[in-house]
Amino acid sequence: MVFSARQHTAVVDGIREMAKDTWAIRLRQPELAEQITPGQFFMVRPADGSDPLLGRPFALYDTYADEDGRPVGIEFGFVVVGKLTSLMTHWRIGDTVEVWGPLGNGFPVPASEHLVCVAGGIGQTPFLAVAAEALGLKRYGLPQRQLIERPKSVTLCYGVRSQEYLSGLDDFSLPELQIDVATDDGSYGHRGFVTELLQQKLDAVGQDVNVYCCGPEPMMKAVAGVCRDASVKCWLSLETPMACGFGACFSCVTKVREDDGTWDYRRTCVEGPVFEAERLVL
Ligand SMILES: Cc1cc2nc3c(=O)[nH]c(=O)nc-3n(C[C@H](O)[C@H](O)[C@H](O)COP(=O)(O)OP(=O)(O)OC[C@H]3O[C@@H](n4cnc5c(N)ncnc54)[C@H](O)[C@@H]3O)c2cc1C
Ligand code: FES
Repeated sequence: MVFSARQHTAVVDGIREMAKDTWAIRLRQPELAEQITPGQFFMVRPADGSDPLLGRPFALYDTYADEDGRPVGIEFGFVVVGKLTSLMTHWRIGDTVEVWGPLGNGFPVPASEHLVCVAGGIGQTPFLAVAAEALGLKRYGLPQRQLIERPKSVTLCYGVRSQEYLSGLDDFSLPELQIDVATDDGSYGHRGFVTELLQQKLDAVGQDVNVYCCGPEPMMKAVAGVCRDASVKCWLSLETPMACGFGACFSCVTKVREDDGTWDYRRTCVEGPVFEAERLVL
């Protein structure tokens, strides 16, 4: 069944601080929660007023369910960077907001022996749902997506500047999820870049591995390079700034390679945000 994105009214169901400048908000919106899949996103804006006028895109962190197990809401995590993200830290339970979604393609259902998710900073947010699905702990979408075969291993390689920015480690403590952390300053886990953790992992598991990545552009470029050198398939989730979110304004274009070796612009909001790394002109 194909669903088109819709504008929904949602009610704030929870707000929590996850790390320095990092928060998570739960929005009660059963229709969206039932349909959305890992790696998809939605646009969020206040229900009242016109400042900001445009919604901002956020990736699904996870869905949550009622006592009967029916998905009733979505949670997203965010770093405070500007107007809306600052405003959102003041939202309270019961506030009404507008949310537009589900949007974008999301990550494919994993189809390899090993899955490695590589996150930089707040780029960790899509991977809670990705990992829960890959480990067979949870299902998403309507109809629910089917895991063809559970990967033998699922790993999160997670890099941040320093320990104070590490968010959601409790949420990620899923049975059998391996978590490798790198910090730039060595305050937690491996001192250095997350690409070093990825390289170690690829050396250990061989070539039947899919890599899913989200984070700052230079880090994603480095991850794509490591995967290319190792002949491993890699998907990147781009966080291109967006205005409309549904394909109308072309503010979110990125260069994508065609089969004949030329490239063309593609809209990240409708044809992404997830692209095969080898297709992108980085
Ligand atoms: C598909 C997608 C999923 C995303 N998921 C998340 C998520 O789960 N959590 C999260 O924290 N953020 C996520 N982002 C980024 C998030 O949308 C921006 O941080 C947000 O729009 C900032 O809004 P603001 O009103 O607070 O900032 P603004 O006031 O709009 O901007 C503040 C500053 O940030 C810059 N900026 C805004 N958006 C971006 C961007 N996308 N990339 C680089 N610079 C930007 C502006 O140019 C400006 O300098 C996602 C982006 C996309 C495209
Ligand atoms: S954000 Fe308008 S076309 Fe993508």
